[in-house]
Amino acid sequence: MQSSFDIPVLDDLDAPKQVSATTFGKKMVYLETYGCQMNVSDSEIVASVLTKDGYGLTHNVEEADIVLINTCAIRENAEQKVRRRLVELRSHKTHINPDMKLGVLGCMAERLREKLLDQEKLVDIVVGPDAYRDLPNLLNQATDTGQAAVNVQLSKEETYEDISPVRYATNGVSSFVSIMRGCDNMCSFCVVPFTRGRERSRPVESILDECKTLVETGFKEVTVLGQNVNSYRDEKQGSGVDFAELLYRISQISPELRIRYSTSHPKDCSDALLHVHAEQANVCNYIHLPVQHGNTDMLQRMKRTYSRDQYLDLVERARKIVPGVSLSTDIIAGFCNETEEEHLDTLSLMAQVRYDHAYMFMYSERPDTYAARKFEDNVPEHVKKRRLQDIIQQQSGISLESNKAEIGREHIVLVEGESRRSDQQMSGRTDTNKMAVFDRLDFVKGEYVKVLVTDCTSATLLAKPLGRL
Ligand code: 5AD
Ligand code: SF4
Repeated sequence: MQSSFDIPVLDDLDAPKQVSATTFGKKMVYLETYGCQMNVSDSEIVASVLTKDGYGLTHNVEEADIVLINTCAIRENAEQKVRRRLVELRSHKTHINPDMKLGVLGCMAERLREKLLDQEKLVDIVVGPDAYRDLPNLLNQATDTGQAAVNVQLSKEETYEDISPVRYATNGVSSFVSIMRGCDNMCSFCVVPFTRGRERSRPVESILDECKTLVETGFKEVTVLGQNVNSYRDEKQGSGVDFAELLYRISQISPELRIRYSTSHPKDCSDALLHVHAEQANVCNYIHLPVQHGNTDMLQRMKRTYSRDQYLDLVERARKIVPGVSLSTDIIAGFCNETEEEHLDTLSLMAQVRYDHAYMFMYSERPDTYAARKFEDNVPEHVKKRRLQDIIQQQSGISLESNKAEIGREHIVLVEGESRRSDQQMSGRTDTNKMAVFDRLDFVKGEYVKVLVTDCTSATLLAKPLGRL
């Protein structure tokens, strides 16, 4: 969902993405994914595990024998949305297809298993993010016994390194490649370390192999994923390859392959990494640097491990080493004890950095987190809402100005497909992660096209194609 300012906020990451492949003559699985890119990538792993075991995939819940919902727990509204969907699907099971098995995967699994299974009797299967290999076994168990089957064990090692994801919902141009799982940062507001467990990195060779296969099958862009992607370190293999080195190695696979990553922590944004951005043409000129807040005391309460000034120094360093780098961020409004002055510090930081793009959220207390245990969620709802609106409004103005500055400039766009508004136009992103829309002519997805920006909104560049590369 987009805000009235056309900037992705809150639910932007929470919209469901559905399976689009169909196979006949098998037990059929319908898979629906909520939440972040990592969940989309995990669903590709789930699809791989199940198709290898003889299941088929369907995009139609009506023909499904098994319905799996990959869930998100990052904010309360994400959880509520999943819950409403589960109630709907449970009713479908009760009234239309009593043999259907309904399962919950991912981040809500561990925390809500008792409630979902015992109290509400909503689901038949509950599987945590590190237990997807066990899915065929759990499905058999649920079918054979008629009892609920559960595995929410978190692992210190599981990276699914040997599983080739089934890319059932991609555009054939861009793909996710998951390189690490879990998070050790324990930001005080965040439930992820509890739902996804400890940080662990996937061996470098398996990542490079997956990227090479993607290139061979025609993909032109990879987004390398992890909860704290730039803390990647391949220690298990003893190679000591860190994130900067990994990106460099991926960049050498093919000059035609663009590389992005998500989501990073400022503490792990090293100069070496900035140099890889600057020196490797196919590592995109774009960094997502979630600041969360503009006030040092708040950052301390959030346990972000940097001050406002340290963050601003990093931005300056990034802009010096990587000229023209595009920056985006995540911001939380209304965290515990936030004063009006502290809120103004967020606005002033945004004005100073001038992000090209921001994901903006209202604080939502999550169980078990440090903030839930130690602080009071004491900013009234209406104040949180108003502060979020201040932030969105300011970013909207900055995004528009940043896009206006692009008018008259040329960019190389990777064509991702038809534009959402018209089949006579194509769309794709610039190196700096801005969406551009231009006349279709005879362009096809997967091509690199040079465009001249002629106009813009706060969310999109309108461009004239100058020709393919
Ligand atoms: N409330 C609001 N936003 C949150 N995020 C993480 N936890 C919470 C929470 N409890 C936001 C942060 C993070 C992004 C993925 O979600 O900004 O970077
Ligand atoms: Fe959550 Fe912080 Fe880890 Fe991001 S870095 S997943 S916000 S704990």
